[in-house]
Amino acid sequence: MNKTIIVSNRLPLQVSIHDNSLKVSPSVGGLATGMKSVHSEGNGIWVGWSGIPENELNPELSREVQNKIKKEKCVSVPLTSQDIEEYYEGFSNRALWPLFHYFMEYTNFEQKEWEAYKRVNEKFAEVVIDNLNDGDTVWVHDYQLLLLPQLIKEKKPNTTIGFFLHIPFPSYEIFRTFPWREEILTGMLGADLLGFHTYDYERHFLSSVKRILRLDVNFNEINFHDRIIKVDSFPMGIDYSKFHNAALKHHSDSYEKSELRTRLEEHLVDDKKLILSIDRMDYTKGIPNRIKAFEYFLDTYPQYKEKVRLVMLAVPSRSNVPQYQKLKRETDELVGRINGKFATVSWTPIWYFYRSLPFENLIDLYISSDVALITPIRDGMNLVAKEYVATRTHGNGVLILSEMAGASKEMNEALLINPNSYEDFAASLNTALTMPLNEQETRIKLLQKRLKRYDVEKWAEEFLKALKKTKEVTSNNITKKLTSEYESALIEDFKSKKKRLLLLDYDGTLVGFKDNPQDASPDEELYKLLDSLQEKATVVLISGRDKATFQKWFGDKSYNLVTDHGIWIYQNNKWTALERVKTDWMQNLQPILETFVDRTPGTFIETKKYSLAWHYRTADPELAKTRTLELNTVLTSMVSNNGLSILQGNKVIEIKSSNVNKGRVVNRLLLEEDYDFISILGDDWTDEYMFEEAPDSAYTIKVGFTKTKAKYQVKDAEQVRELLKKLI
Ligand code: ADP
Ligand code: G6P
Repeated sequence: MNKTIIVSNRLPLQVSIHDNSLKVSPSVGGLATGMKSVHSEGNGIWVGWSGIPENELNPELSREVQNKIKKEKCVSVPLTSQDIEEYYEGFSNRALWPLFHYFMEYTNFEQKEWEAYKRVNEKFAEVVIDNLNDGDTVWVHDYQLLLLPQLIKEKKPNTTIGFFLHIPFPSYEIFRTFPWREEILTGMLGADLLGFHTYDYERHFLSSVKRILRLDVNFNEINFHDRIIKVDSFPMGIDYSKFHNAALKHHSDSYEKSELRTRLEEHLVDDKKLILSIDRMDYTKGIPNRIKAFEYFLDTYPQYKEKVRLVMLAVPSRSNVPQYQKLKRETDELVGRINGKFATVSWTPIWYFYRSLPFENLIDLYISSDVALITPIRDGMNLVAKEYVATRTHGNGVLILSEMAGASKEMNEALLINPNSYEDFAASLNTALTMPLNEQETRIKLLQKRLKRYDVEKWAEEFLKALKKTKEVTSNNITKKLTSEYESALIEDFKSKKKRLLLLDYDGTLVGFKDNPQDASPDEELYKLLDSLQEKATVVLISGRDKATFQKWFGDKSYNLVTDHGIWIYQNNKWTALERVKTDWMQNLQPILETFVDRTPGTFIETKKYSLAWHYRTADPELAKTRTLELNTVLTSMVSNNGLSILQGNKVIEIKSSNVNKGRVVNRLLLEEDYDFISILGDDWTDEYMFEEAPDSAYTIKVGFTKTKAKYQVKDAEQVRELLKKLI
């Protein structure tokens, strides 16, 4: 039976050593708490780190850890103290985490930590592959494992891989500062489906893919070699019934109240109120800001003194990382200062807990609080906000939520605030504390309805459904991928026949694209390959390049050359014009193209003898898209009356005489000789003319996976060369 392998840095359980024996506790954080219920229902396994360095365990304890983990359907990836320091505390939490949360001043890029990040991602890949059977699905999670999808795809290309990012994906302007940005994006693109919490994160990611990797993106699909990768947003939900039912149980008469709940209720007499905040102790959560804003609130609305209390639970997190230590010190000081400033003999404004509490206590906090104050500076989603709403079984309660949390996109009925504005903060707190009960109920009900319907199970189901569909669509789409049967037939036929013709386009077919066409000159390997092929067949290089360039590159060779899309032919060391074309239109069009160059940085004009080409490969992709539409409109009205046509090449628009095309050359060559083997290879729109004119018996191959009349498709120029080498 096929299974799903969940992979994340942290397992849902954490192992630690206390007095020489093992202690197992649940992990905190949205990823672990959310995925836990998805995992417990299915037949899959969860691969991750146990929370303990492998080198601190003797063989006996190590076996014990494995057993405890195995019981929970988990498999551990052994990490050393050095891995943890460099990959987890270092690269993951001192480079990726702050950068992705827009805390640029906290980011620290260290080559050594990047090496560790790669090394540990490879360790994860090994464990996943060891546990992988054909037909299994792998679902990789979060920023600690951004390279993993590609590492698995390389070794197991047929595996269906999903990836979900639990934190924000920053805007291109932030992401581009990252020294290893290409590697990170390529690593992620090993997945077949990439999921984000919100549409904003999705579009930031796509923008980086377009600008940094320069890949073609159609709506939310990325063309990457021979694969189509889908990107979508799936806002993560919570295990709604678990929280809701726990709250119902805590409210029932027979339930014995905990000490914490009793203490909380002691405060809730007369018109006194509790305000709750729960977070991991993380600088993204805006804890110091919240405390200062609470001070501002008490100063601005003094009537609330002795009436309200902020219960603040901060769960220890990543406490070996210096910024987290600094935050802890700052929080301690602030709480001390504000409590000192306002406290009376019977009241302290802030109750501050720095510890992890058991689930039942968490429920006590949720159900006892009139207001939840969830105000991160930046947060991928924030599940605490959703959990608070789910536990409001009496329908009362107000959620104040930061606009900077992903959850705010789907929780419009909360009071949404900008956490950087103390005024906004204080006014919302006042609104929350005075909100009529019926309004509270209306808001909570609407919020609950959505959370109940789109719970974490539904979220996982939707993601896995989309993943399955993506895989099906991808494999159906590329039905023309070169098969080994077709390749063998081509090679056999080539060897058995006598009069062979090879028609080869140049750019994109024999050499990869360069930013500037002048840089794509032939290399030694290519010369050697073509020389050997020429001994066995008539080789024709057929290109949109101009005569002078090909003369310079191939003038001393015996292959045939066709340049300028079919105007000139070079045979038997002699150039002949195949078509007579006018060029007087060029001086009229040149200034128009120049205005486009002026307004579109990164573009330039290539002036050929018989045509003009506007290249936009290095332009901003969004701007280039707008400009190509604009240019096409301008050109369409001008070209038709002048016997010209517009060619849409690969990141280039070319204007040339309409009575010239590569297809006409194919016809002419076929009339000249009676070839018994013909193969045509090309990558571009202009090569489609050749495929159209090719006889049925010809072997036609397109480079790249866009729509084509060719019979088969290959990935890139490298694959073309591999194929051609097999002919000699
Ligand atoms: P993050 O993922 O950044 O930590 P979230 O709000 O998305 O933030 O997730 C926090 C998760 O951790 C929630 O599911 C919450 O219930 C859980 N959690 C918070 N505090 C505790 C605690 N003291 N003990 C156990 N789980 C906790
Ligand atoms: C966030 C991250 C998770 C991480 C969690 C707890 O939710 O998205 O990947 O597991 O915080 O952090 P920790 O460093 O303790 O795993």
